[in-house]
Amino acid sequence: MKEINIAIDGPASSGKSTVAKILAKNYGYIYTDTGAMYRGVTYLAIKHHVPFSDEEKLVELLDRYPITFEQTSDGQKVYANGEEITEAIRQNDVTNGVSEVSAWSKVREKLVEVQKAIAKNGGVVMDGRDIGTAVLPTAEVKIFLVASVLERAERRFKENQAKGIMTDFDTLKQEIEQRDYLDSTREVSPLRQAEDAVKVDTTGLSISEVVSVIEQIVETQKNNQ
Ligand code: DC
Repeated sequence: MKEINIAIDGPASSGKSTVAKILAKNYGYIYTDTGAMYRGVTYLAIKHHVPFSDEEKLVELLDRYPITFEQTSDGQKVYANGEEITEAIRQNDVTNGVSEVSAWSKVREKLVEVQKAIAKNGGVVMDGRDIGTAVLPTAEVKIFLVASVLERAERRFKENQAKGIMTDFDTLKQEIEQRDYLDSTREVSPLRQAEDAVKVDTTGLSISEVVSVIEQIVETQKNNQ
């Protein structure tokens, strides 16, 4: 039997990647973090001095430095033409530029093509903003994860603290609100819930509680196949 695809969308810091990684491990599926691809182009633009406003040059960067993943026992590693960029794409300058870069339709077309190819045989857990609406509209399971802005800012604050990065809580909250706004109001494939997606509000839930809610949805779907 062909394995199913699981699409997980939601706003910044809603817990998508944490939950998606656990689900992929539990089912033996491939995890694909599409945000890492948009972050990858943004990183390349900064490195090669390409303005975020230059759509054609951004696409050229992707042709010259293809973004690839490697699944390792330490998690997923991200590369641009062989250079490891796993950590570099999490830096603040990338995070603050990625909404502008990911709004370009030609950049999206190029990356969506890669994302569709990864999922063509099933057995993938893919997270992002437009997976259920544009990348995998026929995914068997579609989840839309949400959480209050306050809780998302608190999660990000604690993650930063654990990494020894000092951040101002209010600035963090404003950055999340700004990214929500840009991601959900852009013209091409904005962040929105697919009609057939199940909304899961993770405010006040632990990671394992969220995983188990989604696993129940997956099991129901598998039994109905
Ligand atoms: O999930 P993330 O925070 O790493 O994503 C980074 C940015 O990439 C996010 O602000 C919007 C963009 N993105 C997108 O436009 N479409 C996706 N499928 C995934 C991410």
